[in-house]
Amino acid sequence: MFLDRVKPLSAILATAEKKSLHRSLGWFQLMLFGIGCVIGTGIFVLTAAGAQKAGPGLMLAFAIAGAICIVAALCYAEIAAMIPVSGSAYTYTYATMGEFLAWTVGWALILEYAVAASAVSVGWSGYFSGTILNEFFGIQLPAWLAAGPLALGGAPGGLINLPALVIALLVTWLLMIGTRESAFFNSILVAIKVTALTAFIFLTVPQVELARFNPFLPAGVFGGLGTGVGAVGAAATIFFAYVGFDAVSTAAEETKNPQRNVPIGLVGSLLFCTVFYVLVAAGAIGTIGGQPIMGPGGIPFPAGSEELARQCALPQHMQALVCSDEALAHVLRQIGFSEVGNALGIAAFLALPSVILVLIFAQTRIFFVMSRDGLLPDVLSRVHPKWKTPHIVTAITGLVVAVGAAFFPVGQLADIANAGTLYAFMMVAIAVMLLRKTAPDIKRSFRTPALWFVGPATIAGCIFLFVNLPFAAMIVLPVWGAIGLLVYFGYSRNRSHLGRGIVEVVDDIEGVEAAVPIDPPVG
Ligand code: ALA
Repeated sequence: MFLDRVKPLSAILATAEKKSLHRSLGWFQLMLFGIGCVIGTGIFVLTAAGAQKAGPGLMLAFAIAGAICIVAALCYAEIAAMIPVSGSAYTYTYATMGEFLAWTVGWALILEYAVAASAVSVGWSGYFSGTILNEFFGIQLPAWLAAGPLALGGAPGGLINLPALVIALLVTWLLMIGTRESAFFNSILVAIKVTALTAFIFLTVPQVELARFNPFLPAGVFGGLGTGVGAVGAAATIFFAYVGFDAVSTAAEETKNPQRNVPIGLVGSLLFCTVFYVLVAAGAIGTIGGQPIMGPGGIPFPAGSEELARQCALPQHMQALVCSDEALAHVLRQIGFSEVGNALGIAAFLALPSVILVLIFAQTRIFFVMSRDGLLPDVLSRVHPKWKTPHIVTAITGLVVAVGAAFFPVGQLADIANAGTLYAFMMVAIAVMLLRKTAPDIKRSFRTPALWFVGPATIAGCIFLFVNLPFAAMIVLPVWGAIGLLVYFGYSRNRSHLGRGIVEVVDDIEGVEAAVPIDPPVG
């Protein structure tokens, strides 16, 4: 009964037809876009939490998460090229599995984008406080202004993470007044990030001491369900470092020769990041060490926990990788490259806000499309007359992101974002396979190779990572889902346009365009 309202694919495709954007992107632009969205707090900050969960096994964790993202990316590429309209996983599900499941995906995407934006804001805050305030201006932010008080495990902290709050609001304001990242600006930021990580690899890898990798798997491969430790527990957390590549799939219809360029762009940017991440983890752990601080029973203390915070305050642990808020800059400072460490800190300070911008932007688009489908109030798809942006939904999203950033720690935010993302990825894989059966004749400008292996592998990979998240993050998804059901049955189901027999053939409106940074036309 709940799986009845399937949005006709023909209406969605007509929308795409109407939109028909100019095909101008090549694989290199796609890769730049992908790397721009992807490299952020995951590698710059969560490396510390990952090491606390897995020790040197973090390298394996990056490889596992990267492999799962690559199969998911191949699924995204087919469906995005076939149904090139806004709303990503939400729209794909609407066209295949109906409104109810589409609602659950849209609801889960709030975790992916909004909560991830909070996580990146908190990550940025660590570099802002450590490098900019402390190293350059000698200002030590009082503890109560530098971190939020809440942690799902009950960790102590400050009162409010002021820098994270401010950056989230600042980015929101930029989006409200219509700021878009130009392709040129994006490539500068990608160059800054890649240069910083390359310098890190060149300075650390030659100094690696193999003894630091022993024991390689101090918490084992499987740390136990719900514990979030071990190599796969770390993989479930640092999966966050790859989140954002799905934004590239939204550019499929703007790509020249998509059959060739979309997979190269998507898989290429993920492969590039995977190799970089593994090398960065090797450099960090091989130089200053990255063994977890063990608790009772030889199990690492949970990252972000009160007990770990206490351990990190002890003189013998103060300089440990697993205790740092700005992991990569910290490593460079420890091995005598303070200046380069500070430069890397500046790179993170400059580049992370653009990741926040992409994530909040993606979130507003999902809300926008859900509102246009009648599932959320109309006011959310209202567009500002002058700024030409959906200013109301942007402001609401930004406030929520800012509050999350102000009060929660980065690791837990990232884990929660991962839970929502994994659900959406899984639904996309199912949608691609369903469409091969239900709509075999529709033109696909990219076909996922070996779909009957890649699709199930994506689903299995997503479930596998999900069950290896810490219990507290895992439970958020069903709780959030239950709230979503209340909203759906209490509000959305009766107001749904499709439910009321209205099927629109519209897509983006002026000003809410451009998922991809595009340079203004020349001349
Ligand atoms: N992958 C993005 C990051 O690590 C979200 O910041």
